[in-house]
Amino acid sequence: MRLRYVDGQYDYVKNHPKGIVEPQDYEYSIREKFKNDNLLHVELGCGKGRFIRGMAANNPGINFLGFEKSIKVAYRCVKCCSDDNVKNYYIVYSNGDVLSEIFPEKSIERIYLNFSDPWPKPSHYKRRLTHKGFLDIYRKVLKDNGEIHMKTDNNDLFEYSVEQFEQDNWDLVLVTRDLHNSEYSEGNIMTEYEEKFSESGKKINKLIARKR
Ligand SMILES: C[S@@+](CC[C@H](N)C(=O)[O-])C[C@H]1O[C@@H](n2cnc3c(N)ncnc32)[C@H](O)[C@@H]1O
Repeated sequence: MRLRYVDGQYDYVKNHPKGIVEPQDYEYSIREKFKNDNLLHVELGCGKGRFIRGMAANNPGINFLGFEKSIKVAYRCVKCCSDDNVKNYYIVYSNGDVLSEIFPEKSIERIYLNFSDPWPKPSHYKRRLTHKGFLDIYRKVLKDNGEIHMKTDNNDLFEYSVEQFEQDNWDLVLVTRDLHNSEYSEGNIMTEYEEKFSESGKKINKLIARKR
Protein backbone atom coordinates (compact mmCIF):
# COMPACT_ATOMS: atom_id res chain seq x y z
CA MET A 1 0.00 0.00 0.00
CA ARG A 2 1.35 3.43 -0.98
CA LEU A 3 1.56 5.79 1.95
CA ARG A 4 0.38 9.36 1.49
CA TYR A 5 2.84 12.22 2.01
CA VAL A 6 1.71 14.39 4.90
CA ASP A 7 2.85 18.01 5.12
CA GLY A 8 5.26 18.60 8.00
CA GLN A 9 6.08 14.95 8.65
CA TYR A 10 9.85 15.55 8.87
CA ASP A 11 9.32 18.25 11.52
CA TYR A 12 6.86 16.01 13.31
CA VAL A 13 9.49 13.26 13.63
CA LYS A 14 12.19 15.80 14.53
CA ASN A 15 10.13 17.33 17.34
CA HIS A 16 8.62 14.12 18.64
CA PRO A 17 10.04 12.94 21.99
CA LYS A 18 10.67 9.51 20.45
CA GLY A 19 12.02 10.79 17.11
CA ILE A 20 15.60 11.38 16.00
CA VAL A 21 16.61 12.89 12.64
CA GLU A 22 20.10 13.59 11.25
CA PRO A 23 21.75 11.05 13.59
CA GLN A 24 25.26 11.93 12.29
CA ASP A 25 24.91 15.27 14.07
CA TYR A 26 25.33 13.44 17.38
CA GLU A 27 28.98 12.78 16.53
CA TYR A 28 29.12 9.23 17.91
CA SER A 29 27.24 10.13 21.09
CA ILE A 30 23.71 9.16 20.16
CA ARG A 31 23.52 6.63 22.98
CA GLU A 32 23.79 9.46 25.50
CA LYS A 33 20.10 10.06 24.72
CA PHE A 34 19.40 7.14 27.05
CA LYS A 35 21.33 8.56 30.00
CA ASN A 36 22.59 5.11 31.01
CA ASP A 37 25.20 2.55 29.88
CA ASN A 38 22.80 -0.29 29.15
CA LEU A 39 23.31 -2.62 26.20
CA LEU A 40 22.29 -1.29 22.80
CA HIS A 41 20.16 -3.14 20.23
CA VAL A 42 19.41 -1.64 16.81
CA GLU A 43 16.71 -2.54 14.28
CA LEU A 44 17.17 -1.58 10.62
CA GLY A 45 13.92 -0.97 8.74
CA CYS A 46 11.66 -0.84 11.77
CA GLY A 47 8.54 -0.01 9.76
CA LYS A 48 5.69 1.10 12.00
CA GLY A 49 7.67 -0.06 15.01
CA ARG A 50 5.60 -2.77 16.61
CA PHE A 51 8.64 -5.02 17.13
CA ILE A 52 10.89 -2.38 18.67
CA ARG A 53 8.16 -1.09 20.96
CA GLY A 54 7.40 -4.64 22.12
CA MET A 55 11.07 -5.47 22.64
CA ALA A 56 11.66 -2.25 24.58
CA ALA A 57 8.64 -2.82 26.81
CA ASN A 58 9.72 -6.42 27.54
CA ASN A 59 13.41 -5.55 28.10
CA PRO A 60 13.66 -2.36 30.17
CA GLY A 61 17.38 -2.99 30.83
CA ILE A 62 18.28 -2.75 27.13
CA ASN A 63 18.29 0.38 24.94
CA PHE A 64 16.73 0.15 21.47
CA LEU A 65 17.06 2.30 18.35
CA GLY A 66 14.84 1.60 15.33
CA PHE A 67 16.11 2.96 11.99
CA GLU A 68 13.65 3.71 9.22
CA LYS A 69 14.73 5.29 5.95
CA SER A 70 11.29 6.32 4.67
CA ILE A 71 10.00 9.55 6.19
CA LYS A 72 6.41 8.49 5.45
CA VAL A 73 6.92 5.29 7.45
CA ALA A 74 9.00 6.95 10.20
CA TYR A 75 6.23 9.53 10.64
CA ARG A 76 3.59 6.83 11.08
CA CYS A 77 5.92 4.95 13.39
CA VAL A 78 6.50 7.82 15.83
CA LYS A 79 2.77 8.62 15.78
CA CYS A 80 2.21 5.11 17.17
CA CYS A 81 4.75 5.82 19.92
CA SER A 82 2.86 8.76 21.36
CA ASP A 83 0.82 6.95 23.92
CA ASP A 84 3.33 4.62 25.54
CA ASN A 85 5.33 5.22 28.65
CA VAL A 86 8.34 3.15 27.57
CA LYS A 87 11.56 5.10 27.97
CA ASN A 88 14.21 2.84 26.43
CA TYR A 89 13.73 3.34 22.70
CA TYR A 90 13.87 5.94 19.93
CA ILE A 91 12.97 5.91 16.24
CA VAL A 92 15.70 7.23 13.94
CA TYR A 93 14.74 8.59 10.53
CA SER A 94 17.80 7.45 8.58
CA ASN A 95 19.19 4.87 6.22
CA GLY A 96 20.93 2.04 8.07
CA ASP A 97 23.98 2.32 5.82
CA VAL A 98 25.30 5.13 8.05
CA LEU A 99 25.72 2.97 11.18
CA SER A 100 29.50 3.26 11.21
CA GLU A 101 29.23 7.07 10.94
CA ILE A 102 27.02 7.17 14.03
CA PHE A 103 28.34 4.49 16.36
CA PRO A 104 31.87 3.96 17.61
CA GLU A 105 33.47 0.63 16.71
CA LYS A 106 32.31 -2.35 18.78
CA SER A 107 29.53 -0.46 20.54
CA ILE A 108 26.36 -2.40 19.61
CA GLU A 109 25.33 -5.79 21.00
CA ARG A 110 22.69 -6.77 18.47
CA ILE A 111 21.16 -5.77 15.14
CA TYR A 112 17.70 -6.88 14.02
CA LEU A 113 16.71 -7.19 10.35
CA ASN A 114 13.00 -7.93 10.16
CA PHE A 115 11.31 -8.55 6.80
CA SER A 116 13.86 -6.44 4.98
CA ASP A 117 13.05 -5.39 1.42
CA PRO A 118 14.01 -8.40 -0.77
CA TRP A 119 15.39 -6.52 -3.81
CA PRO A 120 14.86 -9.52 -6.13
CA LYS A 121 16.83 -8.28 -9.16
CA PRO A 122 20.53 -9.30 -9.06
CA SER A 123 21.46 -5.78 -10.13
CA HIS A 124 19.91 -4.56 -6.84
CA TYR A 125 21.49 -7.13 -4.53
CA LYS A 126 23.85 -4.56 -3.05
CA ARG A 127 20.81 -2.87 -1.50
CA ARG A 128 19.97 -6.03 0.42
CA LEU A 129 20.65 -5.52 4.12
CA THR A 130 22.64 -8.77 4.16
CA HIS A 131 24.86 -7.88 1.20
CA LYS A 132 28.59 -8.02 2.01
CA GLY A 133 28.74 -4.19 1.97
CA PHE A 134 26.30 -4.10 4.91
CA LEU A 135 27.99 -7.04 6.68
CA ASP A 136 31.23 -5.03 6.68
CA ILE A 137 29.43 -2.14 8.40
CA TYR A 138 27.81 -4.46 10.96
CA ARG A 139 31.17 -6.08 11.71
CA LYS A 140 32.64 -2.68 12.55
CA VAL A 141 29.95 -1.51 14.95
CA LEU A 142 29.09 -4.82 16.61
CA LYS A 143 30.94 -5.89 19.74
CA ASP A 144 32.86 -9.18 19.62
CA ASN A 145 30.26 -11.96 19.71
CA GLY A 146 27.60 -9.40 18.75
CA GLU A 147 24.68 -10.82 16.79
CA ILE A 148 22.46 -10.19 13.78
CA HIS A 149 18.91 -11.52 14.21
CA MET A 150 17.11 -11.78 10.90
CA LYS A 151 13.52 -12.82 10.11
CA THR A 152 11.93 -12.97 6.67
CA ASP A 153 9.16 -14.70 4.77
CA ASN A 154 11.23 -14.42 1.57
CA ASN A 155 13.00 -17.74 0.93
CA ASP A 156 15.26 -16.37 -1.78
CA LEU A 157 16.51 -13.53 0.45
CA PHE A 158 16.93 -15.99 3.33
CA GLU A 159 19.06 -18.50 1.40
CA TYR A 160 21.12 -15.63 -0.04
CA SER A 161 21.67 -14.29 3.48
CA VAL A 162 22.71 -17.66 4.91
CA GLU A 163 25.29 -17.86 2.13
CA GLN A 164 26.51 -14.30 2.68
CA PHE A 165 27.04 -14.89 6.41
CA GLU A 166 28.82 -18.20 5.78
CA GLN A 167 31.11 -16.70 3.13
CA ASP A 168 31.91 -13.78 5.43
CA ASN A 169 32.89 -16.06 8.35
CA TRP A 170 30.04 -15.37 10.74
CA ASP A 171 28.88 -18.18 13.04
CA LEU A 172 25.32 -19.16 12.22
CA VAL A 173 24.07 -20.08 15.68
CA LEU A 174 20.43 -20.48 14.62
CA VAL A 175 18.83 -21.24 11.26
CA THR A 176 15.16 -22.22 11.06
CA ARG A 177 12.86 -22.16 8.05
CA ASP A 178 9.70 -22.42 10.14
CA LEU A 179 10.13 -20.21 13.18
CA HIS A 180 6.52 -20.33 14.38
CA ASN A 181 6.51 -24.14 14.52
CA SER A 182 9.95 -24.42 16.07
CA GLU A 183 11.29 -24.49 19.61
CA TYR A 184 12.55 -20.92 19.04
CA SER A 185 9.11 -19.35 18.78
CA GLU A 186 8.78 -18.73 22.50
CA GLY A 187 9.06 -15.02 23.28
CA ASN A 188 8.97 -14.12 19.58
CA ILE A 189 7.60 -10.63 19.04
CA MET A 190 5.78 -10.39 15.73
CA THR A 191 6.32 -7.49 13.39
CA GLU A 192 3.51 -6.01 11.29
CA TYR A 193 4.73 -7.87 8.18
CA GLU A 194 5.26 -11.09 10.10
CA GLU A 195 1.66 -11.13 11.23
CA LYS A 196 0.39 -10.42 7.72
CA PHE A 197 2.55 -13.09 6.05
CA SER A 198 2.02 -15.80 8.64
CA GLU A 199 -1.75 -15.24 8.53
CA SER A 200 -1.59 -15.85 4.79
CA GLY A 201 0.08 -19.22 5.47
CA LYS A 202 3.71 -18.32 4.77
CA LYS A 203 6.45 -19.89 6.84
CA ILE A 204 8.80 -17.50 8.62
CA ASN A 205 12.57 -17.97 8.36
CA LYS A 206 14.91 -16.86 11.12
CA LEU A 207 18.67 -16.84 11.52
CA ILE A 208 21.09 -15.60 14.13
CA ALA A 209 24.61 -14.81 12.92
CA ARG A 210 27.33 -14.16 15.49
CA LYS A 211 30.41 -12.08 14.80
CA ARG A 212 33.61 -14.12 15.14
C1 LIG B 1 9.11 -4.64 4.25
S1 LIG B 1 9.19 -3.37 5.44
C2 LIG B 1 9.23 -4.27 6.98
C3 LIG B 1 8.88 -3.41 8.16
C4 LIG B 1 8.98 -4.08 9.53
N1 LIG B 1 10.35 -4.47 9.83
C5 LIG B 1 8.08 -5.28 9.62
O1 LIG B 1 8.59 -6.41 9.65
O2 LIG B 1 6.86 -5.09 9.71
C6 LIG B 1 10.88 -2.85 5.29
C7 LIG B 1 11.12 -1.47 5.87
O3 LIG B 1 12.52 -1.25 5.90
C8 LIG B 1 12.79 0.07 5.49
N2 LIG B 1 14.18 0.05 4.96
C9 LIG B 1 14.60 -0.58 3.85
N3 LIG B 1 15.94 -0.40 3.67
C10 LIG B 1 16.36 0.33 4.74
C11 LIG B 1 17.63 0.85 5.12
N4 LIG B 1 18.72 0.64 4.39
N5 LIG B 1 17.70 1.57 6.26
C12 LIG B 1 16.59 1.80 7.02
N6 LIG B 1 15.36 1.36 6.67
C13 LIG B 1 15.24 0.62 5.57
C14 LIG B 1 11.73 0.37 4.45
O4 LIG B 1 11.52 1.77 4.29
C15 LIG B 1 10.52 -0.34 5.04
O5 LIG B 1 9.77 0.51 5.90
